[in-house]
Amino acid sequence: MAHDEVVQRYSGLARAAMLGRVILDCDANEFDQGRFGAAGYDDVGGLPEGAVRASLGCGDPVAVAELRDGETVLDLGSGGGIDVLLSARRVGPHGRAYGLDASTDMLELARANAARAGATNVEFLHGDIASIPLPDHAVDAVISNCVINLSDDQPGVLAEAFRVLRPGGRLGVSDVVTDGPTDPARRAAAERRVGCVAGSLAVEEYRSLLRQAGFVGITIRLTGDHGDGVHSAVIRAAKPAIGPGLEIRPMREADATQVLAIYQAGLDTGDASFETLAPSWEGFTAGKLPHLRYVAVDTGSGDVAGWIAASPVSSRPVYAGVVEHSVYVHPGCQAHGIGRALLSAFVAASEDAGVWTIQTGIFPENTASLTLHQALGFRVVGTRERIARHHDRWRDVLFLERRLDHT
Ligand SMILES: C[S@@+](CC[C@H](N)C(=O)[O-])C[C@H]1O[C@@H](n2cnc3c(N)ncnc32)[C@H](O)[C@@H]1O
Repeated sequence: MAHDEVVQRYSGLARAAMLGRVILDCDANEFDQGRFGAAGYDDVGGLPEGAVRASLGCGDPVAVAELRDGETVLDLGSGGGIDVLLSARRVGPHGRAYGLDASTDMLELARANAARAGATNVEFLHGDIASIPLPDHAVDAVISNCVINLSDDQPGVLAEAFRVLRPGGRLGVSDVVTDGPTDPARRAAAERRVGCVAGSLAVEEYRSLLRQAGFVGITIRLTGDHGDGVHSAVIRAAKPAIGPGLEIRPMREADATQVLAIYQAGLDTGDASFETLAPSWEGFTAGKLPHLRYVAVDTGSGDVAGWIAASPVSSRPVYAGVVEHSVYVHPGCQAHGIGRALLSAFVAASEDAGVWTIQTGIFPENTASLTLHQALGFRVVGTRERIARHHDRWRDVLFLERRLDHT
């Protein structure tokens, strides 16, 4: 559905709610387990009746966002404000809950509900969830309830959620998804039957878009089966954690010069790799998996402080979940936990992507890298003695691997 149509539809519902009418987005009877609207919550006690009645969600994202006292939270597509008001209670007077909605009528309804609730730590913003009117790293958690499916720019929404989250921040979303591969006819039929499902993503598409945005620790749990492959789901993910002033995000082509300079500086130490010259960008990217390449950047200058990337170990399908990685930190940024943060994010992203073994080779002389990898669950499988020559010297390489728990 086009953005303007969506806004018009919800503005109409908001005006009806302001007249005291019961509003319904989807016909709950159309679903096998009608946990839509206020029925999706275990406890809405103490909220104004108008906020509860205007609830158009498909779950309870506040319940999964693990909000803490003093935190800042943003609700994408806040509607009548139910999740903003519930969040405001959780984060307390020292915290802040923002709601963002594209419908001015919905914002009016939400502000009226907030006034009735006496909430002073809330703010409702006007705008599109694909272009969030907040600065980078402004919030600890992003929540959303049955809205992302409505956007005509879902990759843009997730990229924006990633941008406004501080490193280590969480995403907790209720949404409607479809299972299995996307059969357009089946999806269209479901969308005709229940209007609020428009634009729903298949579970694997959702996962892939979250990964592309840079999220790790992704879980998508189906919470209700509505037939025809349509489900309610709870989606959780995190922005990789790293120290202050830094951020981990997917590697981009614009990072090429700095990534390759850091690579060369590592090779120049003589203890990073048998290679002596960093490849061209084309050579670098040709061998690397596009979804497992991250950089740590200084959030002030945008400078790259380190990177991590992986290559498949084999083209044979049986080894599809086995990768080999490299991690390099700028010589001026070492001993600040950047390598550790990059490796932790990479391990989480690899697990999300179905990788079951991560392997790497480390020169025994590179004790810092060895210690880092062992601290994050890698074990030395063996020593490949005098495996190859580096600057005319035969050198040993320690072979390390990290297995996913279930393998
Ligand atoms: C299904 S209702 C859910 C409202 C609320 N989250 C709840 O649980 O009651 C969808 C809401 O998202 C808003 N919305 C839809 N698309 C949007 C977009 N692209 N940007 C901002 N708000 C949007 C609508 O105006 C509406 O208030």
